[in-house]
Amino acid sequence: MDPDPDRTRAFGEQLLGILTGGVLTMLIGIGHRTGLFAAAARGPATSMELAERAELHERYVREWLGAMVTGGIMEYDPAGGRYSLPAEHAALLTGATSRNIGPAASSLRTLGSVLPQVERCFTDGGGVPIAEYAAVSAGGLGETWRHIYDEHLVDGFLGPVPGLLERLRAGVRVLDLGCGTGHAVNVLARRFPRSTFDGLDIATDAIADAEAERTAFDLPNAAFAVADAADLAPDKPYDVITAFDAIHDQAAPEVVLRRIRDALAPDGVFVMIDTKFATRLEDNVGNPYAPLSYGVSLLFCVPTSIATGGSGLGAMWGQERATEMLADAGFTDVEVFDTPRPQNCMYVCRTEES
Ligand SMILES: C[S@@+](CC[C@H](N)C(=O)[O-])C[C@H]1O[C@@H](n2cnc3c(N)ncnc32)[C@H](O)[C@@H]1O
Repeated sequence: MDPDPDRTRAFGEQLLGILTGGVLTMLIGIGHRTGLFAAAARGPATSMELAERAELHERYVREWLGAMVTGGIMEYDPAGGRYSLPAEHAALLTGATSRNIGPAASSLRTLGSVLPQVERCFTDGGGVPIAEYAAVSAGGLGETWRHIYDEHLVDGFLGPVPGLLERLRAGVRVLDLGCGTGHAVNVLARRFPRSTFDGLDIATDAIADAEAERTAFDLPNAAFAVADAADLAPDKPYDVITAFDAIHDQAAPEVVLRRIRDALAPDGVFVMIDTKFATRLEDNVGNPYAPLSYGVSLLFCVPTSIATGGSGLGAMWGQERATEMLADAGFTDVEVFDTPRPQNCMYVCRTEES
């Protein structure tokens, strides 16, 4: 059958949008890192004035502005030769907030730097070690999640869990598995001084950053260690165990979930923040967050899991699979909560003894 010309034309337009979005993402990253958006948010300016404000070379700034204006990100007044960033756009492109998309745009650039390694996995198999992604966690992705934890972790994510904030206030033993650079632990340790917090991650660099922040925040009730979650076997049980965006990255998630269950006190609770998608591909069609999350999973979660001998569960394991694996690990009471981010949900897991 001959292709339907209207459908081909429509798909051509879709592809143009995809290519344009790819380039604009790179340019948004430049605007974020060079301070151009912050400079533009201070008010309308010519390309020369904007270049001076941001201490950059005008010729490059002018070409960037051309893409920003024609891409619908900034506006241009030809009469005065001035460019402006609407306040509504500045709200999503500037500031130390989780709404600022600049760090995420930057992290996609960093993920692009491991493309050759990931492409090699397509032909040769194997994975990409987490150490090759150091810049990703230090850069955009890490920055985005830091703001999310600052703004939403205590009240937005954990607040709705029945009884949890009261227990944290009273003083309990908490473990965060796959803590990365440790900001979530440090935020909680600062907010709940009567509780003690252990953060554990397999990545040495991340734990060094976590420890540096703990020292800077002067938190005697937090501690970090390099360890493999699959070896978890604490001397004393924990009252609360958390895993934020970390279980699907594990080489052996089934083993880790079982270890978590065994490491909990009888009335303990496991809180797992993860992606909010369906397990079946067909049920994710139409979800606007799905292509991005499948892509990040392909470029980060799957190859890092496979690099450590895992099966590459990936970020798109989905709620049905997650719930099944939690039940297999022995959690008899699993409640799924919505979170302040539509692309994440939170599993609150207990056993019948709790
Ligand atoms: C996407 S990051 C999330 C980090 C942190 N929880 C956050 O929200 O910022 C996943 C983390 O899981 C860690 N991880 C992966 N496999 C691990 C293992 N076997 N044991 C401990 N940590 C592991 C990675 O090193 C990484 O820091």
